[in-house]
Parts: sequence; structure tokens; C-alpha cells
Amino acid sequence: MFYFCSHFAIRSIRHAWPSAFAAAAVLLMALAGGLSANHGISNPKVQARVDLMIAQKAALAVLTEMASTRRPFDRDQARAARKTLKGTTDKIPNLFRRPHRDPHSLAKPAVWHNWDDFKHHAERANTAADGLNTRTLVDLRRSLPALIQTCTACHDKYKNPGHEFTTH
Ligand code: HEC
Repeated sequence: MFYFCSHFAIRSIRHAWPSAFAAAAVLLMALAGGLSANHGISNPKVQARVDLMIAQKAALAVLTEMASTRRPFDRDQARAARKTLKGTTDKIPNLFRRPHRDPHSLAKPAVWHNWDDFKHHAERANTAADGLNTRTLVDLRRSLPALIQTCTACHDKYKNPGHEFTTH
């Protein structure tokens, strides 16, 4: 599934980063993902919304790794990832509002034919990000599936499969 993809990149750098730099690491991963996942997109407005998605993928990967104990639970790091996800999901409607096009975009035209429904999906994701509980590993494990479900629910309806080899 899409959120397993950045694990290689994360795995290779995670030992090098003390947890005090966790927030910076999350940001760096988001940026690195953005740079490496251009997919040939030339419209900067389309690239901006794809970058946002890649940033959420990176933040979500941190949390899924912790939930599966492939990464030690770190409350500060988890909180930073939650903060990223709250911010990114909040910006989805703004970045998708205009139907900017690019031959390499995976967005279905249905996004703009069903704008209210798409917006509701974004709101659900934002509510689930808000509802993430990062106090303990148990809390994280309990609250994470609801968020993941909102990512896949929107993708099932509004995103073409593609780039599977890099993002799913
Ligand atoms: C409201 C709908 C919606 C929600 C919610 C949503 N996405 Fe997306 N996502 C899209 C659409 C549409 C695209 C395709 C954008 C494009 O290519 O123009 C996309 C693309 C992506 C991509 C592919 C980027 C690339 O490399 O091309 C990733 C990764 C991604 N989303 C991750 C996530 C994650 C993680 C979440 C949940 C935290 C999430 N998305 C929630 C609609 C959504």
C-alpha cells in the first residue's frame, strides 16, 4: 500500500538522526520525497498538490513504522508527524479547488465534478488527523487506522492508480 513506500528512504536515515531532530527529519523526508517524485509533472500547481500528498505520505510512514515497531515509539516525533498531517489535510481543498491539469496527474476529473464530496473526504481526513492520539504507542495504534482509512477512501474514488512502483 502507498504508505509503505518511503520506508527505504526512512530506514536509511533514521539511525543517523537523534530524536531531538525528529521534526526536522520529518520535514526533510517530505522534501526528499517531493524532489524524487516528480513523475514528469510540469504544471507547478499540480506539483504543489502532489508535494502535499507526498508530505503526508512521509509523515504517515513515521507513524505506521512506530505502530508496527519497526521504529521505536517517540512521542515528540509522533506529535510532529500528527502536526504535519493536520496541516496537510487542512490544505487539500485549497490546493485542489481549481482543476489544474497535467498529463502526469493521477487526479480523476471526478474531483471537480463532485467537489462537495471531495471536500468532505478532505474534511474527514483532517478530523482523523486531529483525532490521532500520539501519547502512547497503544493510543497511536488505536487512532491511526481511522486516518489511513480516510486516505484510501478518497484515493479509491478520486485518484487513478499509477506510479505504483514508487507510491502505490
Ligand atoms: C480528499 C481526497 C484525498 C485525501 C483525503 C488524500 N488524498 Fe492523497 N491524493 C488524492 C488525489 C486526488 C491524488 C492525485 C493528485 C494528482 O496526481 O494530481 C492523490 C495522490 C496521492 C499520492 C501520490 C503522489 C504522487 O507521487 O503522485 C500520495 C502518496 C498520497 N496521495 C498520499 C496520501 C495520504 C498519505 C493521505 C492520508 C493522510 C492522502 N493521500 C489523503 C486525494 C486525496
